[in-house]
Amino acid sequence: MILGIETSCDDTCAAVLHGNEILSSVISSQTEFHALYGGVVPEIASRHHLELVNAVIAQAIAKAGVELNSITRIAVTTRPGLIGALLVGVATAKSIAYGLGVELVGVNHMEGHVAANYLPPEPVEPPFVCLIASGGHTSVVFVPQRGEHKLLGQTLDDAAGEALDKGARLLGLGYPGGAELDTLAADGAPGYVTFPVGLDKPGRLDFSFSGVKTALYYYLRDLDPKIFNEHRADIAASYQSAVITALVKKTLAAAASTRCDQICIGGGVSANTELRRLLATECERQGMRLHIPPPTLCTDNAAMIASAARYLPAKPLPDYLSLGATASGGFAA
Ligand code: KG4
Ligand code: ZN
Repeated sequence: MILGIETSCDDTCAAVLHGNEILSSVISSQTEFHALYGGVVPEIASRHHLELVNAVIAQAIAKAGVELNSITRIAVTTRPGLIGALLVGVATAKSIAYGLGVELVGVNHMEGHVAANYLPPEPVEPPFVCLIASGGHTSVVFVPQRGEHKLLGQTLDDAAGEALDKGARLLGLGYPGGAELDTLAADGAPGYVTFPVGLDKPGRLDFSFSGVKTALYYYLRDLDPKIFNEHRADIAASYQSAVITALVKKTLAAAASTRCDQICIGGGVSANTELRRLLATECERQGMRLHIPPPTLCTDNAAMIASAARYLPAKPLPDYLSLGATASGGFAA
C-alpha cells in the first residue's frame, strides 16, 4: 500500500496505490492563483503546497477507504521541479514515513510520467518509446524495462506546453492557453501560415521551440489587425501544427532508431487533439502500437509517483532522513 505525494510544480497531489490499483488520486490545482501573473510564481506555489499538502493527503487516505497506518511505503517526487515546492513534499513525506515507521522512495518526476503508463485502465509493459510533453518538460525516452530509461531527445529551450502557452498568449488567449489554443485551432486551417518545425533534420531527435515562437511573434507584429481578426483560428492551427509536427516526427523517429513498435505518451500536452490524431494516424500507418493514458494520469498526479515507486529501491529509516530535493535532473542519456 503506497502513499504517493507530488508537489513539484503548481499541483498539490496525493494518491493511494494498492498493488496496481488506484484507490484514490487527489489533485488540488493552483492554476487560478498563478493565472493572475501569466505563469507559475515559485514562491506562491510553495506557500500553497504548505497550506494544502496535509489536507490533500488526508483526503487521499479517506477516499481510499484505508487507515493511515495501513500504508507500507511512501513515495515522493524529489526532482526535477521548483525547489521550494519539492521541499514541501519531501519534508511531509519524511515526517509521515518516520511517524509510521515505513520506508520511503524518492521518485524522479519524469520517471513518474513514464510510470503512469503502467497503471489501469490499460496498463502496458516495456519495451516502449515514451514522449513526455508538458509545460515544464519535453523528452523522448526508450524504456527497455521498468525503471530503465535511455534519453533519446529533449528540448534545447522551451518545453512544448510552454511554447503552446506562449503562442496562445500572443494570440490573446488566457493562461495556461494550450487547451484554449487547441479549441481555437479546431476551426482553423493548419496550412494557412508555414511556421518552422524546430530542428527538422533526419536523425535529429532533440526539440527546439524558441524559433517557432519568435516566428509567430514577428508574424503577428507585422500583420494587419483585420486579417488577424478574420484568420485567428487559421493562425492558431498553423502554429499548433508546427509544434505538434515536431513532437510526432521525433517520437516516430525515436521509435525507429530503437526498432521499437510501441509508443506511449505523458504530460499535459498529450491532451491535445491534434497530437492524439496525428500520432494515432502515423502509428497506424507505420504499424506501431500507441498507448495514451487517460488525461488525469497524463497531467501531474501522485498515482504516477506511487506507480514508479513500486519498482524502485526504497530507503529504510534512518537513511531517508537525509533525502533532499533537486531542481534539475531529467533522464540520463
Ligand atoms: O503536465 P502538466 O499538467 O503540468 C506540467 O507542466 O508539468 O502540463 C501542463 C501543460 C500546459 O502547458 C498546458 O497548456 C498543456 O499542458 N495542455 C495542453 C492541452 N491541455 C493542457 N496543450 C495543448 N492542448 C491541450 N488540449
Ligand atoms: Zn509533469
